[in-house]
Amino acid sequence: MLRGSSRVPEHAGLSELIFIKSFKADVKIGLFYFKRFMTDLDQLVQQAQADFAQASLPAELENAKARYLGKAGRVTELLKALASLSPEEKKARGGQINAAKQQVEAALQARRQALAEQEMQAQLHAEALDVSLPGRGRGTGGLHPVSRSMERIEAIFGSIGFDVADGPEIETDWHSFTALNNPENHPARSMQDTFYVDMKDEQGRWLNLRPHTSPMQVRYARAHAQKYAHLEAQGLPMPEIRVIAPGRTYRVDSDATHSPMFHQCEGLWIGENVSFKDLKVVFTQFFKLFFETDDLQLRFRPSFFPFTEPSAEVDIAFESGPLKGRWLEVAGSGQVHPNVVRNFGLDPERYIGFAFGIGPDRLTMLRYGVNDLRLFFEGDLRFLAQFK
Ligand code: PHE
Repeated sequence: MLRGSSRVPEHAGLSELIFIKSFKADVKIGLFYFKRFMTDLDQLVQQAQADFAQASLPAELENAKARYLGKAGRVTELLKALASLSPEEKKARGGQINAAKQQVEAALQARRQALAEQEMQAQLHAEALDVSLPGRGRGTGGLHPVSRSMERIEAIFGSIGFDVADGPEIETDWHSFTALNNPENHPARSMQDTFYVDMKDEQGRWLNLRPHTSPMQVRYARAHAQKYAHLEAQGLPMPEIRVIAPGRTYRVDSDATHSPMFHQCEGLWIGENVSFKDLKVVFTQFFKLFFETDDLQLRFRPSFFPFTEPSAEVDIAFESGPLKGRWLEVAGSGQVHPNVVRNFGLDPERYIGFAFGIGPDRLTMLRYGVNDLRLFFEGDLRFLAQFK
């Protein structure tokens, strides 16, 4: 902005004003003021730097720029003021002012860059997109609750001296039925109760998916009898048969307490002097260990199985807890029928014993308080993950 004809910049300091007026008059004084002028130029640059640094937005910076380098800016006004000076003065002062101008411009440029950089960083930050997927956790698996029960059953019977045997799930008619004293017209042999496989055995009979683990009595006892036949020949007693055979079994049956595939654990104890009393002792011990409680009663309820005589269902009742006082059927049992002992390849006059079939699925339901058997076999992880 011009003030009168002196063309002195509005922002010019007093020193500049004096300098311009007195320069010609007195070189000495002029020199003094020249120094002042330089100091003032330095201050101008410093002020511009400070102003620029204060601007935190590009628009603010452009406003600050206008104050120094705009049409009426302080630097511009200084340059304009040169017009009224002699050529030598112009040269000398012009150089100084231009140098200051360059410094101001450099400061402006640096600040512009810094702000642009800042803006870009802020934008990058605001628009940041997380393209990484969360890691895939590998859950630790757990044993199926029925497998847990099987392991417990094996461990407990193992501790009382029982062997653990495994056998085929596709059975011959003889092992599943005939050898077990099942009459030809027994309902277990019907298609309503047993799954048959589209294949026949050597006797021309359909193979079946074993409807119980009892065929394992026959398989194990026959192998045992054969193994110790040499003792028999010498009139010596063979070691007792003590075995359990847990595994999968199949029946045409499906509701809350029956599944077409289910589990059984067969047991067999044969010797020269084994009685129902032994069965009761072993069973009582087993269930107390399995359910981890002494608050438990056991009862034998007369029943019928073709392969045992007498036969009994085994019921247990807890003396405390949610199932307190209710009798629950947990196994079938009985003294092995002489016909079956004969099919073992043993003399029923000499060898006697008992067999039992435990339902591990049932025991698992009782142990964990599960009221629908089908849950075990649907493979729903929400259910299964609870057993770890
Ligand atoms: N096999 C019988 C069942 O499936 C159970 C049983 C086994 C009964 C051994 C007596 C002796 O029901």
